[in-house]
Amino acid sequence: MRTVDIIENKVKGLENTREEIEFLVNGLLSGEVEDYQMSAWMMAIRFKGMTDRETADLTAAMTGSGDTVDLGDIPGFKVDKHSTGGVGDTTTLIVAPLVAACGGVVAKMSGRGLAHSGGTLDKLESVPGVNIEQSIDTFKAIVKRIGVCVIGQSSDLDPADKRMYALRDVTGTVQSIPLIASSIMSKKIASGADGIVLDVKTGNGAFMETLDDARILAKTMVAIGKHSGKRTVALITDMNRPLGMAIGNGLELKEAIEALSGIIPLDDPLMQVSLALAENMLIISGIAQNELTARDMLVQALKSGDGLNKLRQMIESLGGYTDYIDDPELLIKTETTVCVPALKSGYIGAIDSKSLGLGAMLLGAGREVASDVIDPSVGILMHKRYGDRVNKGEPIAELFINDRSNESRVISLIEQAVVILDKKPENIPLIYDIINEDNVI
Ligand code: URA
Ligand code: CA
Repeated sequence: MRTVDIIENKVKGLENTREEIEFLVNGLLSGEVEDYQMSAWMMAIRFKGMTDRETADLTAAMTGSGDTVDLGDIPGFKVDKHSTGGVGDTTTLIVAPLVAACGGVVAKMSGRGLAHSGGTLDKLESVPGVNIEQSIDTFKAIVKRIGVCVIGQSSDLDPADKRMYALRDVTGTVQSIPLIASSIMSKKIASGADGIVLDVKTGNGAFMETLDDARILAKTMVAIGKHSGKRTVALITDMNRPLGMAIGNGLELKEAIEALSGIIPLDDPLMQVSLALAENMLIISGIAQNELTARDMLVQALKSGDGLNKLRQMIESLGGYTDYIDDPELLIKTETTVCVPALKSGYIGAIDSKSLGLGAMLLGAGREVASDVIDPSVGILMHKRYGDRVNKGEPIAELFINDRSNESRVISLIEQAVVILDKKPENIPLIYDIINEDNVI
């Protein structure tokens, strides 16, 4: 088999065989296939796409490129959750403990934030002492004992994805639906859960800016899950505004603690999306029959404090100081806070959530390059949300700052990102669609 012929076939729009796909993925790791050949093939995929069969075969080859986690000795249906990445998207820290409090078994390997989107690991690490690099045995022991654990993905899992993603990042091949779907699903399948609930974000702060693309990505991933014997559901949710009010690691963990404490109203966008994800996790786990019974269980876990207690137990199991859960103000101690006032009166219209994510990054909450060090306390707390009335001079956001060097740049980013209109804008849906196995072939 010649690598160049496999690339040529894809350039002509022909289907690659399973053997060809395996040859490229394994060859990349063995050195038989060069980085530039893999990059050329992925560029051809970006233009010509992949059939469902090719995407499934690519996913399987990537999953098989490294270790896979066997969670079989943990009793119960192991459920995982994944978001395609957003701004102010704190759902994992709410949903994982809440589902565990309802009897679900949540075993999740998470990622770090990059550029404008946050990552759950960075948020967990805002608690001093937390160590997200645990062995698989410790991970499984924690899940067995308390029903929930979120750790960093082991470096032995899916090495093909790491190599391919690094190439995609610098060759303009990130934006390809089959490549995104196989990248996400190969990692999820390798981490061993029985079922996966996907949160596919769409809008100005998301990978998939249009609803049509989000729907295709969701269907592609649910189809891969189905063919791999994993119960998979995808929610398509809005990212034309930050989901929660907090953007920044400690700020977001504090918001998750408030959510689990029952302080945040159930009709708040962050709560609505979190509850919808958790409902679907309970349903695919076979714990709840439908959304209504699932919702009752979840609201009960919020009221009783059982969800918050699960988060506390998880932080403790990962080595973190639980004082920070009991007194979340400790998470956001910064030298300064600065309010960003509204430049005129009106209603909050469009919000460019990507710019807000970039603003938080510039304050030190995120990484421009993977080696940047994060400041857990800094970020942006929105005081107004989409559709809110605001008077000139009233704060629309508050900055939590330690290093003031980017302060004025971030203030003008926020002023540009938050558009103030004369009339109240139309409601935009939060959850556009739910794709399950019945919706795909
Ligand atoms: N997240 C992933 O893990 N992979 C992609 O390709 C895009 C988002
Ligand atoms: Ca292999």
